[in-house]
Amino acid sequence: MEYSEKVMDHFTNPRNVGEIENADGIGTVGNEKCGDIMRFFLRIENDVIIEAKFKTFGCGAAVATSSIATELVVGKTLQEAVKITNKSVMEALDGLPATKAHCSCLAEEALHAALWDYAKKSGVTIGGLQPPEEKNHEH
Ligand code: FES
Repeated sequence: MEYSEKVMDHFTNPRNVGEIENADGIGTVGNEKCGDIMRFFLRIENDVIIEAKFKTFGCGAAVATSSIATELVVGKTLQEAVKITNKSVMEALDGLPATKAHCSCLAEEALHAALWDYAKKSGVTIGGLQPPEEKNHEH
């Protein structure tokens, strides 16, 4: 199995690991098959994500996709953040082996779950965002 340099970089030196205290949005998702768990924390101000952190209990690809997803999302508006998918995450990492594609889905789901949590708590609607329960069966 071949990993890109970017995957190895984000796996060995993950960015934004940890928790955000009193985060505006928190999303936790898991993959039943591999048992890996990912949690995203977002700080949001004026509809813009100003900080993102993650905690991932999972494989190397899950750590790398979480790390890159936090980098992708900071500075984005809520509307832009919804458009970040597992494909964006994979592209940003210069690809993932096919058997590891599901790990990037976890990153998309965790991010969208955190956005959903924020939307619910603050009473805003984010166009195009689906409830996490419905999303989990998509990939
Ligand atoms: Fe499950 Fe990577 S093997 S997230």
